[in-house]
Amino acid sequence: MCQRSSEMKALVKEGGGGDNRLQHKLLASVFYEASTRTSCSFQAAMHRLGGRVVHVDASPSTGNSSSKKGESLEDTIQCMECYSDVLVLRHPVQGSLARVISRVNKPVLNAGDGIGEHPTQALLDLYTIADELGGLSQIKQQSTSENPLTVVLVGDLKHGRTVHSLAKLLARSGVVNDPSTQLTLVYCSPPLLQMPQDVQDYVAQFGITQTEIPSLADAVAKANILYVTRVQKERFDLEEDYNQVKGMYIVNQELMRMAPSNMIVMHPLPRVDEIAVEVDDDSRAAYFRQMENGMYVRMAILDLVLSSKDK
Ligand code: NCD
Repeated sequence: MCQRSSEMKALVKEGGGGDNRLQHKLLASVFYEASTRTSCSFQAAMHRLGGRVVHVDASPSTGNSSSKKGESLEDTIQCMECYSDVLVLRHPVQGSLARVISRVNKPVLNAGDGIGEHPTQALLDLYTIADELGGLSQIKQQSTSENPLTVVLVGDLKHGRTVHSLAKLLARSGVVNDPSTQLTLVYCSPPLLQMPQDVQDYVAQFGITQTEIPSLADAVAKANILYVTRVQKERFDLEEDYNQVKGMYIVNQELMRMAPSNMIVMHPLPRVDEIAVEVDDDSRAAYFRQMENGMYVRMAILDLVLSSKDK
């Protein structure tokens, strides 16, 4: 996937912006929740490979699809399957993709299911980690049991689907030679927003060291990657719970002065206040490069899913 994504990057930057390999292919992009990057990068990816997109804003409150009239997710997806070759679905309820997948014969890509998973984000995050740290072979060479690759996940680890998928992907990806000794995941969150037990259990199967360090200053001390997340206001039942934890972790210049000089800062975006704008000019701030990588990785995914079907 990393190799294919780099090929897509070269195609866009040096190969005239794209090609026509997905000509006459159609992507149905069905979003029940707000999105800028995931939705637009999937659309841009499809267009850059010569394909087309039908986008459905399916939010029952603000959208313009029949979900506003009470149509079920299953019926909407069945409808869009008729018109397209591949579907992308974002939905606020965890497990919604699993719910519809058995009824659909076309590939459906999960663009985020509530507090569940966000697998294509995890792929672009992994690609960004490899790209920023000099490639997978470099990471493998440099990660040892004395000096493990240390990934700090900070913020709303309970509701953040990006960190659920990333922790799982890092655990199983072979990003380092021996995950059980060469990869450490550090969880930095308020007690109310801890990494769910099922994600920790999944990661533990691979023997990976997982530690909780509630102080951000302590957590960054040995970090190679600081992955920051937004406190997901929309997932809280009680506003007072949100008010209690919002703004607890802020990455600013002061923190960056304490952090290792080769640590990179990532964020799936959108940010609210968890990374101060002053950090944007720091060369370690990788989140805008990460966002751009999203398009290349999604080009690679669509190519893999659609072109390979014809071969
Ligand atoms: C995230 C998401 O929707 O899960 N953003 C993204 O897809 N790039 C993170 C968020 O909303 O905070």
